[in-house]
Amino acid sequence: MRISLRTFLGGLAVASFATAALADGEVNIYSYRQPQLIEPLLADFTEKTGVKTNLLFLDKGLVERISAEGENSPADVILTVDIGRLMQAKEAGVTAPLQSEVIDGAIPAEFRDPQGHWFGLTTRGRVVYASKERVEQDAITYEELADPKWKGKLCTRSGQHDYNIALIASMIAHHGPEKAEEWLIGLRDNLARKPAGGDRDQAKAIFAGECDVALGNSYYVGLMMTNEKEPEQKDWAAAIKVLFPNAQDRGTHVNISGMSLAKNAPNRDNAIRLMEYLASPAAQEIYAEQVYEYPVTPGARPSAIVASFGTLKPDSLPLAEIARLRGDASILVDKVAYDDGPAN
Ligand SMILES: [Fe+2]
Repeated sequence: MRISLRTFLGGLAVASFATAALADGEVNIYSYRQPQLIEPLLADFTEKTGVKTNLLFLDKGLVERISAEGENSPADVILTVDIGRLMQAKEAGVTAPLQSEVIDGAIPAEFRDPQGHWFGLTTRGRVVYASKERVEQDAITYEELADPKWKGKLCTRSGQHDYNIALIASMIAHHGPEKAEEWLIGLRDNLARKPAGGDRDQAKAIFAGECDVALGNSYYVGLMMTNEKEPEQKDWAAAIKVLFPNAQDRGTHVNISGMSLAKNAPNRDNAIRLMEYLASPAAQEIYAEQVYEYPVTPGARPSAIVASFGTLKPDSLPLAEIARLRGDASILVDKVAYDDGPAN
């Protein structure tokens, strides 16, 4: 149901975008992020600057579409989630390098592309969801998830999902390929079941007593806690506590949502104004309130719900380094047959 609704929304947006006369100077945004998450920000931007925006929401094929539109693409700004997708846009050649003192001053270097092809806007921690009832400890490390004490107690989604690929890439960066492989085998053998579903399904499995610990992105906890459409998700959230892995040492692995300037942006100047606005602390807080993520700009606060999980200390490993190792991580997932579940 959700998929068809999103497709429908996408179709609507595409239709209106194609038929609307795109006025000069208005910033055209191609977004993988849902309109309701972005619209409060765009309204604030227009109020502050007088610059209008047009939002095109797509749930797939965004990069392919901009590529197909070529030099005539109306795309000015690209909004997306996950370093994997930001890199995909850069590698497809649909982004332009941007040097902006305002943006570079607001966004820490580890969360932006050294060449300026993408910039992080929010971070999300890859945290551990732990059963409130059955897990006593309040601290954990990613390394510890491979400890046999969790045998039959761990749940995760597919190892090949972008979120896990980035985490595994960070383990390769920190420990080297051999140790990372050993670790992933340990994780696999602790699985309670074959990897399946999304991150929220892992919280549901803890609620159902199928596992005690799971990997999941931090914002899903906020989304579950406040889900009026599917209120059973509130029960899943109530069954878990959020543990920030490696809080005592290198910090928790984070990924980003982010933005890029489109290569052939027809409204380049205003596109940069929008991007500079999105990097500002005021915009960062509006954004963080909507998406239950962490502002990337130092000093901007997360929402009260997110703050209630505790303090996120992000791993400072550059995202560009994680992006570089994504291919190796994917090969490793297949090599250890992670998605087949425990070997014994
Ligand atoms: Fe997600």
